[in-house]
Amino acid sequence: MTATATKPGSGGASPALIRLGINIDHVATLRNARGGVHPDPVRAAELAVAAGADNITAHLREDRRHIRDDDIVRLMAELDCPLNLEMAATDEMTAMALKTKPHAACLVPEKRTERTTEGGLDVVAQHNTLAPVIGKLVDAGIQVSLFIAAERRQIEAAARLRAPAIEIHVGAWCDALAEGRDDDAAAEWRCIQDGARLAHDLGLEVHAGHGLNYDTAETISALPEIVELNIGHFLVGEAVFVGLGETVRRMRAAMDAGRETLRRRPAAARAM
Ligand code: PXP
Repeated sequence: MTATATKPGSGGASPALIRLGINIDHVATLRNARGGVHPDPVRAAELAVAAGADNITAHLREDRRHIRDDDIVRLMAELDCPLNLEMAATDEMTAMALKTKPHAACLVPEKRTERTTEGGLDVVAQHNTLAPVIGKLVDAGIQVSLFIAAERRQIEAAARLRAPAIEIHVGAWCDALAEGRDDDAAAEWRCIQDGARLAHDLGLEVHAGHGLNYDTAETISALPEIVELNIGHFLVGEAVFVGLGETVRRMRAAMDAGRETLRRRPAAARAM
């Protein structure tokens, strides 16, 4: 979501703070496995905020496989931090966003058959579909980001659409690292670095998400242009072992360590 308390990232003297958005979808996945009300994603959101999260993110999918409409309504009523609604650019979801007025909306591609959001939006091909949705959301005061791959043509298209922010899909980088494909990971990392810089130079606020864990969150927090990370599955999985509050605190510490690496880097090196 677009910064309110922090200034956008830059290669200059004082790197911006980096926000932690916690995606609570998979708390709802667990709840829905039994069809009851436990565990409650709203309670998880409150706990995450108490432990240091800056925002809460929830993806209301067309098939409602995890988060449901009433979760969004309750999050808006009960949460005292910004809500970032992940949504497909459909009429149904646009109406839902305009009704509930979250602080931010992240437009994502959505396929019923996918296990998770597999790739970024093709904003080049979908310019005409996305433009009116972005317009309506922005006019309603909702801060829009576009979930895209770190590709030059997608980033330039996002800037042409006048979206205030992008979220870079970093899943391919995280997967390559996890699977020990070092060359692929290095290539993906170069794309992320270049893409973040290009987006920042074009005036876009830059977020990142998908597949992040403590290590990758620390690494990416050392990129000055990135001002928000959205993280879900790893945190909910770790919470099984150490509790959600502790997981969020460790993630916050990892991101702060990454930012500290950046702060220690001479300004000239940061701008390179
Ligand atoms: N950002 C976006 C736009 C997403 O679609 C997702 C997955 O729902 C995430 C971040 C979080 O990804 P993960 O659950 O892998 O941390």
